[in-house]
Amino acid sequence: MMEMGCAATTVGAFDFFRGSEYLKGLITDYGLPVVSVNVYDELTGDLFVEPYVIVERAGVKFGITGVIDPGADIRTHNDVEQLGVIIGEPMETLPAVLEELHRKADYVILLSQLGLEQSKLLAEELQGIDFMLMGVAAQYAAEAFEVGHTVVVQPGYKGQRMSDYRLQFSEESAYLGYSGRAFDLGDKIPSDASMALLLKEHKIAIEEANKLRAAARKPAAQTASPSYTEECLGAEATCARCHQPQMDQWVGTAHANAFASLEREDQSANPECLRCHTTCYLDIPLDGSVSVQNSLRNVQCEVCHGKATDHARDDSYGKVTVATCLSCHDEKNSPDFDYAEYLPQITH
Ligand code: HEC
Ligand code: HEC
Ligand code: HEC
Ligand code: HEC
Repeated sequence: MMEMGCAATTVGAFDFFRGSEYLKGLITDYGLPVVSVNVYDELTGDLFVEPYVIVERAGVKFGITGVIDPGADIRTHNDVEQLGVIIGEPMETLPAVLEELHRKADYVILLSQLGLEQSKLLAEELQGIDFMLMGVAAQYAAEAFEVGHTVVVQPGYKGQRMSDYRLQFSEESAYLGYSGRAFDLGDKIPSDASMALLLKEHKIAIEEANKLRAAARKPAAQTASPSYTEECLGAEATCARCHQPQMDQWVGTAHANAFASLEREDQSANPECLRCHTTCYLDIPLDGSVSVQNSLRNVQCEVCHGKATDHARDDSYGKVTVATCLSCHDEKNSPDFDYAEYLPQITH
């Protein structure tokens, strides 16, 4: 973020995944300009980060502050014992901060983690927010829009969408208007080489750390979870015993190599990829007791035929339709998918 020239950012629900102490470490180590008016240190009651920053661009001063939804679904990793912060009501602090910013800066920008509807309400209720940048991805407003006197811009989830807006000011710093657009950061937009390298290094580091963790995990933990054994069992452990011919055919399909594809990309620990490149990923308990690294890697039998525990002998089990495929062969990941063409390549 510092390399990209980020002037300010605020905290969202996912930023506390490793606990507030870890986040504080990152903020300090990198000098990140993180602002928020309603996150408090649980012990001291002080604001967790600075309430605002003031930045100057072309002689115009902007006060930038941030706010998070007190009802935000803040999840922490199961290693994290204490979140370490509490979230207060935005309206307790925001009016006073806005007043202070209007004394010190020409314009006020609010970084809002309140969601679309709550952000609109806030802009209507509080006069004096000139611009609002929104996080929280559930709904997109593709283009910038105005609520009262506030211009609202919503960038996209994980940078998949970009908002590029320019503000125009007169010689006397009077705001004249904005122009710009929002667009998808698809394949047509080349990656920045230094950022791509940074990302690559980051993925490799995660992959390595994950391998060390997997190696350190006690073998017993892999099979201990009852919910796991009641759901998916994995092909080698079960199906192959009675359906060896199908197994032999499957081993030669792309599905049997889906996990290796992730390893090649240093992405074998990325939950976003595992969903489609492993078996029953969404049913695996989140407590770390089961790892897809072992018996559930690849696109196995149960992906198409259903959980082993549902296996009946009355011809009702394991029916496959085009919908089975489309859950993974979607527009984004399999643009050339054609059922008639793909099906013969996988049938046994
Ligand atoms: C759980 C997700 C999932 C489901 C369900 C699924 N696939 Fe796949 N499929 C994949 C993945 C992942 C790959 C890529 C494997 C790799 O890494 O090479 C793939 C690859 C393929 C390929 C090879 C494509 C190529 O370019 O060589 C075919 C053919 C295919 N799938 C057919 C099907 C059909 C037909 C169905 C439905 C009956 C289906 N798949 C259901 C995830 C799935
Ligand atoms: C929604 C399901 C889905 C998700 C999520 C997904 N993939 Fe795939 N992936 C597929 C399917 C389906 C194919 C096969 C596409 C085809 O050939 O038509 C595929 C193919 C691939 C291939 C090409 C394999 C080869 O060598 O031919 C790679 C590499 C890959 N995926 C990596 C990833 C990575 C990395 C992620 C996470 C960032 C990811 N995938 C997330 C479904 C998915
Ligand atoms: C990508 C989806 C897919 C995967 C993965 C898959 N199958 Fe199938 N399987 C099918 C389709 C499609 C049929 C054809 C019958 C149908 O349309 O329901 C089928 C049929 C079968 C049948 C019925 C007899 C036959 O050969 O037609 C058995 C048994 C079977 N599969 C077992 C397995 C086993 C065991 C595995 C794992 C080693 C497996 N399947 C993996 C899609 C899949
Ligand atoms: C103990 C042996 C056994 C195991 C283990 C087993 N099956 Fe079967 N399966 C059968 C028998 C027997 C049939 C009925 C075959 C027949 O009538 O020709 C069958 C039928 C099927 C069918 C065809 C649908 C039907 O009802 O006729 C599919 C698909 C299938 N099995 C998939 C699987 C998958 C996937 C697994 C692993 C999760 C699995 N089987 C594990 C014995 C087994």
